[in-house]
Amino acid sequence: MKNNIEKAYFLKLTRKILSWYDLHRRNLPWRETQEPYKIWISEIILQQTRVEQGWNHYVNFIRRFPTVKDLHEAEDDEVLLYWKGLGYYSRALNLHKASHQVIEEYNGNFPNTFAGLQQLKGVGKYTAAAIASICFGEAVPAIDGNFYRVFSRMLADDFDIASPKAYSYFYELIFPFVDKERPGDFNQAVMDLGSQVCKPKNPDCNNCPVNNECLAFGTDRVGELPVKKKKLKVETLDLHYYFVKHGNQFLIRQRDESFIWKKLYEFPAAIPEELYKDIVYEKMVQHKLTHKTLNITFSRVEVGNRDSFEEFISKGEYIAVDMDKSHEKSFPKPLEKIILEWG
Ligand code: ADE
Repeated sequence: MKNNIEKAYFLKLTRKILSWYDLHRRNLPWRETQEPYKIWISEIILQQTRVEQGWNHYVNFIRRFPTVKDLHEAEDDEVLLYWKGLGYYSRALNLHKASHQVIEEYNGNFPNTFAGLQQLKGVGKYTAAAIASICFGEAVPAIDGNFYRVFSRMLADDFDIASPKAYSYFYELIFPFVDKERPGDFNQAVMDLGSQVCKPKNPDCNNCPVNNECLAFGTDRVGELPVKKKKLKVETLDLHYYFVKHGNQFLIRQRDESFIWKKLYEFPAAIPEELYKDIVYEKMVQHKLTHKTLNITFSRVEVGNRDSFEEFISKGEYIAVDMDKSHEKSFPKPLEKIILEWG
């Protein structure tokens, strides 16, 4: 499914999610306020921490540092102490740095837009969207893994959420439909729906307020969504090629059909011992394939003695090709460059 959501469908969806939120919203300590300082603290805590675990930390943190000025005036060590147990301590240090930004650069006032909030240390798109929507009523979607899961399922959308393009894809898709009156509630409703109902495992579809509208539920695809493709591991390989030249000829062989560069021509990967003295130059290049990074060393071998050249060929593995005929054969890109340079 690509950007063809009907407006009426989505408005119904939003209305139902908000009505469900009004009845079932979790009463969380940071939901009693719209103060950007407090919402910011809660969102940073909740970046890598579950609500249950973050709850007490939030309460204690706000009790000790009730305003951004209190945080700004504290020592790093004490901020870290109040972060104890939450892990990912860089969050606490960034939080502290951002408190200095707010006091020193913004005169004690938080930036009040989605774009402006992202200028604060440690505040990314998700956190900025959460604060902008909850505190300043800006209608932007707060997109995280939870959000991807809910909307991949709702729209039966199989866009790969591990792709670097997932954020902008979902942003463009959902942005027009974020409730303009209650954007903060819309985002928090999606958070609650994702954590209470549309869970990663064993989603509670029978009690979902939008199971009638959910396109994955309707087509029995909830278990398949969201699609999250495994990242391909990029393997590094070291290769050594010898560009063995005599007169206007050099040596090549054809690769087989296994592995990379199927059926293309290549230079010798090893040379007889007596040719080592003829190496005149070496060059290293890096070449990236989709799944592999190749570090290739090329040695340029100027064979002085025709007999050594012939003897190497007589072993049957390599053939000599004329420089001006080499364009009749296909070589991998990095080898082609070497022929142009050294041929
Ligand atoms: N996770 C991240 N932000 C949250 C919020 N405001 N409410 C509940 N869970 C959250």
